[in-house]
Amino acid sequence: MGKRQRWDSRTIFIFAAIGSAAGLGNAWRFPYQAATNGGGAFLIPYFIALITAGIPLLILEFSVGHKFQAGAPTAFGKIKKGWETLGWWAILVSFVIVTYYAVIMAWVFNYLWHSLTLAWGDLPTDFFFNEVLSITSGPGVLGGFRIPVLIGLIIAWAAIYWTVRDGVKSVGKVVKWTVPLPIIMLGILVIRGLTLPGSIEGISYYLNPDFSKLLDIKVWAAAYGQIFFSLSVSFGVMVAYASYLPKKSDITNNAIITALANCGISFLAGFAVFGTLGYMAFQKGAAVADVAGSGGLGLAFCVYPEAINMLPFGSVIFALVFFIMLLTLGIDSAFSLVEGVVVGLSDKWGWKKKKVTRLTILVGFVISLLYATKGGLYWLDIVDHYVNDFGIIGVALFEVILVGWIYKTKKLREHVNPISDIKLGSWYDVFIKFITPLVLGVILIWNIIQEIIDVINGNLYEGYPLWAILIGGWLVAALLIVLSILLRKTKTDYQLKEDIKE
Ligand code: PFF
Repeated sequence: MGKRQRWDSRTIFIFAAIGSAAGLGNAWRFPYQAATNGGGAFLIPYFIALITAGIPLLILEFSVGHKFQAGAPTAFGKIKKGWETLGWWAILVSFVIVTYYAVIMAWVFNYLWHSLTLAWGDLPTDFFFNEVLSITSGPGVLGGFRIPVLIGLIIAWAAIYWTVRDGVKSVGKVVKWTVPLPIIMLGILVIRGLTLPGSIEGISYYLNPDFSKLLDIKVWAAAYGQIFFSLSVSFGVMVAYASYLPKKSDITNNAIITALANCGISFLAGFAVFGTLGYMAFQKGAAVADVAGSGGLGLAFCVYPEAINMLPFGSVIFALVFFIMLLTLGIDSAFSLVEGVVVGLSDKWGWKKKKVTRLTILVGFVISLLYATKGGLYWLDIVDHYVNDFGIIGVALFEVILVGWIYKTKKLREHVNPISDIKLGSWYDVFIKFITPLVLGVILIWNIIQEIIDVINGNLYEGYPLWAILIGGWLVAALLIVLSILLRKTKTDYQLKEDIKE
């Protein structure tokens, strides 16, 4: 298959890792999670989750990729035969995510265009659902395509293809822009947000501590869930990226820098979002909680545009800054997911990466068409919910079991310590072997029990019909498991040769 590609420099690798980690989740998920789960007090479980699970897992993924010089399936398979399945599962989850992440990017492209005229007018929520999406009555009615969304989708996939076409070479060139740019944009939005009247009320809503929330297991689950999603761990992406590191590369310090930069961006985003929402509440004479919505898509496409309308000057500029920020935050997360899949496939089959890249993007594009239909948002919402609540936590749990108990963390430390500035002590084993699996196990079981109770009570996610939940949630999950097993079972000539070489 030829020589493995290498990152141009340590900085570029760190940029790529931060680019993957810092995505839409930082801008629209973290601030709301903090605000609604105890405000400033949420920072406590969040940092505990970062230290006990986020950073240890990031170190784990970097070291596994670096040591085995392969993407997640091959690397896990080398640790123990059969566990290749787990790598495929991670990669398929990534693939599912990128198929809808690309559609969100498509909406952002639409909004960049609409920003020029502030086309959402006085009713941004109506504009989003009726004009941009032209949403149907439910998941049973797809209603054909919305052409502007389709065009945005083609642009999004073209941008992803253009970035990953030459692997880490082209990715390296793009992340030089897509990492600093959103940080600059965020800086501008923070300053704008904090200098508006009423912003203090918004910040107080964001960070006012409510310590009683710390007794609620939900808050802890939210903190751990946010850390995993945000750091892009348990998707195979960080394993793939680290497999391109040269032999002598720092691991621990790189992981800590990536994690802290990512969490810093999240924390900062809260000031931009809630500073501005404080101002909007002030203008309307309402409480921040009443104007804030609940984050996610609503923040980006309804609430924030409304706040932009109310700015005293420069609305078009701030709209552009906001959507360019979302675009540059999201695009490097999107292509990292594709790169993870491509590395997984080409490492197993020994196929040319270019060919695998084209194939992955083509299949991804075709699947993403579902979400680009007028009823696509419903499916996006269902799939996103299930993949996040079960898929990711499941991968992370099995990953720590594999490395902690089967491979043994001591061996991992022996690989990492000689090449890293910061040395891992036996405390690391305690996290990977006991604390992280325990926490993940509790969250996963808790999510499963909750899901069963909800199904029994007919209290289905967002009130969707059962058949839609069964298809978008359970059928997708079952398909991923079956496909992971099938992918592992296919022995390739290339893999046989590699096995013999060892
Ligand atoms: N970490 C990204 C975010 O916070 O938006 C999402 C993500 C990107 C998850 C890439 C996983 C991944 F591999």
